[in-house]
Order: sequence, then C-alpha cells, then structure tokens
Amino acid sequence: MATVLALETSCDESAAAVVRDSTVLASAVASQVEEHARWGGVVPEIASRRHVEALPQLIEQVCAASGVAVAAVDAVAATVAPGLVGALLVASVTGRTLARLHGKPFLGIHHLEGHLASVQLGEPLPPGPYLVLLASGGHTELVRVDGPGRYLRLGRSHDDAAGEAFDKVARLLGLGYPGGPAIQAAAGAGDPQRFSLPKGRISLPEGGFHPYDFSFSGLKTAMLRQVRALEQVEADTGAALPRADLAASFERVVAEVLVERSCRCALDQGLGTLVLVGGVAANQRLRQLLEQRCRRDGLQWRVAPLAYCTDNAAMIGVAACQRQAAGQSSAIDLGVAARLPLAQADRLYETQAAF
Ligand code: KG4
Ligand code: ZN
Repeated sequence: MATVLALETSCDESAAAVVRDSTVLASAVASQVEEHARWGGVVPEIASRRHVEALPQLIEQVCAASGVAVAAVDAVAATVAPGLVGALLVASVTGRTLARLHGKPFLGIHHLEGHLASVQLGEPLPPGPYLVLLASGGHTELVRVDGPGRYLRLGRSHDDAAGEAFDKVARLLGLGYPGGPAIQAAAGAGDPQRFSLPKGRISLPEGGFHPYDFSFSGLKTAMLRQVRALEQVEADTGAALPRADLAASFERVVAEVLVERSCRCALDQGLGTLVLVGGVAANQRLRQLLEQRCRRDGLQWRVAPLAYCTDNAAMIGVAACQRQAAGQSSAIDLGVAARLPLAQADRLYETQAAF
C-alpha cells in the first residue's frame, strides 16, 4: 500500500489529493473557470499565475483533511504532460521540490493515464482488457487497456475533441463557458429530436468510413448554419432562438456518435467492458445512453464517478500508485511536455529524463 500526494495543474483546474491505492483520503480542486469565462476560453498566462497562487493552499488543505503530512507520504506525483507548458510547470516544480525536500520518489504522470485511472475510483472493474472512451476538452480517444501503461489507441477525433465541440457550440448559442455543463442545463428543457444534425465520419482512402474515428467539425458547422438561419427568422419575425432545442439536439447527436462507435469498437474487438472517462463523461445524457446501449449489446460498462470526470488530482494519485506498485519512479529533473502520446507514457519512468 502506497500513499501518494498528487498534484494537477495541466489546464484550468488547480488540484491536489492524497491517495492510498484506489482510495481517496482527500481531494481538492480550485477551478479558474469563472476567470477564463470572461474570455470564452482558457488564457494560458492567467492559468499559470492562478496555479501558483492556489496550489500551496490546496496541498495544505488535503494534508490536513487526510491527516497525512507530506513527510509521511511514500511518493509525490504531478501531471507532466500533455497540457499548457506554463501551467504544467507549476505542479511539476512544486512536486519535485517537495519530493527532494522530503527525500521521496517523484512520479511524473501522463494526464490521460490519470483520466483512464479515474474509473478505478468507482466500482471494481471486471477482469480482462477493456475499452475506454476518453472524452475531454482536449481529447476524444478509444483506448484498449491491458493494464497500467499498456494502451492501444483504436479510435480518435481527427479535428475537435468532443468537449471542445461542446465549448464552441455553447459559445455560439451564447450559453457561456465551460460549454458542457451549460449545454446540459439548457438541453434539459429542449426537444432533442427537433434538429437533425450530421454524425461526422472519416473517409478511408480505399473507400468507406473509418469505423471508430470521430469528426466534430462538420457538426459544429451545421450548428452554425442552423443558428444563423434561425437568427434571421428571429430578426424577421421576432421568434426567439430555440436555444433549448438546439442544445438538446446537439447533445443527443454527440452522445449517439460517441456511444455508437464505442460499442461497435468493443464488440468488433471482442472487449466485453466499455469504460467512460474524461470531462464529457460528466454528461448525463451520454452516461444514460452508454448504459442503455451496453445493456442492449451485452457489454459491461463502468463510468468514472461524477466527481472525478473533470480534471482532478485524485485520478493522478491512482495512476501514480499503480506506477509505484510497478516499482517505477521518474528522474528528479524530468521536465514537462505540451504533447506526448499516451502510448509513450512509459518514457516518464526512464532513468534519464525524457525531456
Ligand atoms: O477532462 P477535462 O476536465 O479537461 C481536459 O482534460 O480537457 O474536460 C473538460 C471538458 C470541457 O470541454 C467541458 O465542456 C466538458 O469537459 N464537460 C462536459 C460536461 N462537463 C464538462 N461536457 C458535456 N457535458 C458535461 N456535463
Ligand atoms: Zn483532463
């Protein structure tokens, strides 16, 4: 059993947690969302500054709440890739400093490995390899997981990530940032069947379509056209823009695309369990549809607990406990990287820092 202090500052949430294997002893998140909302998206410079201000207090808070002092943990972990470089540096430098000061091993964690590990904070998983649909603000991927560090990407988005599409469409509808929760709230009162929208597909050079890849840019453009046409109607007749119906129709199509392709992939690949993680996994319609379709298709399913879908440090702690259990740790001079494919997460544990 290892106890880890985990830090996360890759985007616009500052977070700290104390985790013992798959048990969260304490977890705290300071969101900067309101500050970035003014600009309609994350401003990297503001994000870094706010992380610097927030992180020390969060560490004190989780240590006090868990009753575990930094001196008593077995390792210190921080997200080191991918993300905004200036933002990543805050957790990385803080984590490495604390590790050095207290003579503890340091573990750099891949942010997506953290999201994958978030499902371990819920119901235990059935044995065997499983398929994960990871849908966040930066990524939409289908990943076969055979164990910690053993990942095979089977599908991906060729343009926007699902969460990014939620954010852009919310802005288009004047619903604010972040878009996911705003669209979900607006969609509650809407008719999800009112507008038919395209389920973007990726053509294969030899003909036909990629069965598991995604594209959300066509859907975004279709929404833009629909909104512009309805705004004209509003100008001509005074009929208000049907925001709720637009939000509900958009949300339905995204959920259908994600679930249909994920189930198809799991069935084709002979994977009996489908797992949903990432910020978009907080979406209620998506969670319900996944459950319905998995039941119908005879698949088992698991969804990350709601509190650990959007960025948090508890999921980073779980991933770190798994790496620690495998006898791994990172070089103390390991830096950060804006990009790093998940398949290369093992590079974070090489004796010589990968970057
Ligand atoms: O995982 P996350 O916190 O950060 C990244 O690693 O990107 O995901 C953030 C994304 C945002 O795009 C946000 O709009 C989306 O997750 N999101 C949602 C919901 N809550 C957050 N999307 C749909 N429905 C939600 N309820
Ligand atoms: Zn994330």
